[in-house]
Amino acid sequence: MKKWNVAAIKAAKGKTKLGCATAYDAAFARLADEAGVPILLVGDSMGMTMLGYQTTRPVKMEETLSAVGAVSRASKDSLVVADLPFGSYQCGEDEAVKNAVAALKAGAAAVKLEGVTPRICALIARLAESGIPVLAHVGMTPQSVNEYGGFKRQGKTRKAADRILADALAVEKAGAFMVTLECIPSDLAAEITAALKIPTVGIGAGPVCDAQWLVMHDLLGINEKPPSFAKQYAHLAEEIRGAFSRYVDEVEKGVFPPA
Ligand code: KIV
Repeated sequence: MKKWNVAAIKAAKGKTKLGCATAYDAAFARLADEAGVPILLVGDSMGMTMLGYQTTRPVKMEETLSAVGAVSRASKDSLVVADLPFGSYQCGEDEAVKNAVAALKAGAAAVKLEGVTPRICALIARLAESGIPVLAHVGMTPQSVNEYGGFKRQGKTRKAADRILADALAVEKAGAFMVTLECIPSDLAAEITAALKIPTVGIGAGPVCDAQWLVMHDLLGINEKPPSFAKQYAHLAEEIRGAFSRYVDEVEKGVFPPA
């Protein structure tokens, strides 16, 4: 199986499309790694998928570090990326660098962060110069959900689309090695993918990006109400509920454990 690193991800642009996924624990990360998933993102989507919150915002740095450790211990070939949670890179550049270093020490090969203000671009540049590869994130950035008033598609007018194109060019210039395009029209994602030298990784951004994300719980059908753009490659919720139910039933009936 191919061993993925930042250089290999960059070199894949225009050659191989990459199906990337989130992972939050060792058991699932091992299976995804064995299946050849190029990038495993320890996403702050864990707030919803694993921790039962309504948004990504309550996720703490300690929770991210614990999950990054588990995922990276189980991954041999996938590139493990730590999604810096809300609050871990907004309280000053030194604090942000400290948290990014902690993510790499926990086992990540790179960090992901959202947004594109001048302060964020300066941070991307500093991290990249310090040997911490950065995967940027533009378009719909879930940590700003309160500003959007919900998880809403961005870039629908030409003016908004031009802003997102400019954002993507800015994070590339700052030194990001890849950029997430979330919930934007697919023709805009195609325009950005053509304009950038670095690869784009889309989620709800159509088929033309260099790579795709799927949140593991949507991909595996653990989440039974996935977003409309997601595809379920399995229906594990049904399987898992059925297994628990058969187990409870067999214990009640004295079938398990056998005499
Ligand atoms: O946390 C997450 O799952 C993400 C997606 C873009 C993959 O950031």
